[in-house]
Amino acid sequence: MSTQPIEITTPAILANIASTPAAFLMCPPKLYDVNYVINPWMAGNVHASSRTRAAEQWQRLYEAVTTIANVQLVEPQPGSPDMVFTANAGLERNGTVAISSFFHPERQGEEPHFRRWFQLAGYTVVDTPRTTPFEGEGDALFSTDGTRLWVGYGPRTDPSSHNPLRKIWGIEVTSLHLIDPRFYHLDTCFAPLADGYVMYFPEAFDKASRAKIEAFYPAEKRIIVSESDAICFACNAINVDRTIILNNISSDLRHQLESRGFNIIEVTLTEFLKAGGAAKCLVMKLSRPEREAANSVS
Ligand code: ARG
Repeated sequence: MSTQPIEITTPAILANIASTPAAFLMCPPKLYDVNYVINPWMAGNVHASSRTRAAEQWQRLYEAVTTIANVQLVEPQPGSPDMVFTANAGLERNGTVAISSFFHPERQGEEPHFRRWFQLAGYTVVDTPRTTPFEGEGDALFSTDGTRLWVGYGPRTDPSSHNPLRKIWGIEVTSLHLIDPRFYHLDTCFAPLADGYVMYFPEAFDKASRAKIEAFYPAEKRIIVSESDAICFACNAINVDRTIILNNISSDLRHQLESRGFNIIEVTLTEFLKAGGAAKCLVMKLSRPEREAANSVS
């Protein structure tokens, strides 16, 4: 494999994040299924999802995302039914991608497929070690101003994978401890939003992690999600500028977001909830469209 060791240090070039068009990587659900149980949502749902309904729901999500961003597609692969959850492919910024090292063997087969996609698209590919699991953007989210990387740990990502991320992008990394098995990835309970807002479910974090979030986001910028919205994956939201795309939420949360100036697009994603994922899990943010990234990585 022509990949680089994790130890490389790349200068931080975060200044142009806001000026580049949004882009996401998605994977059509042609081979999607719930084949095994690696999170509490999958229990009782093995082979219980409808591929036809999943395709319809994914198509609506795809159409919604294409109204606000460019979408790149990766071809699904046999034996990797969770590949639709491209958020877990890795973490990309400024043309460099840290490829995930999945905790569960059930998903490790996805790694070479995602690695190949990024290599062909011209990204600088960095492998993360198998000994320190890291599940990509599922557990690692940049603050919207690009100054900080929030990284979850506990159920999946190992805390010792966090420091190498700091080295790759030369960015401040803050670790957050996930303590509720239902919210096993950071993106299931925490969403940095435009204009310095954050939407999150506090009970998913330990006390020290909640304090870190509160120290960064002032009270008026924190949108607290109730448990009933959280278990419908409200925090698993795609945000570009003032638009938020997410699964169905309560009218109360919708009003809270709208009153802060967000335009809300709800897309029903019940078939994907059966595998423990929703809107944000189904996309991976690319800081630049593939051609632009391929031409300008130096
Ligand atoms: N079944 C998948 C898993 O357990 C769902 C992944 C959801 N992705 C996410 N970014 N939260 O790994």
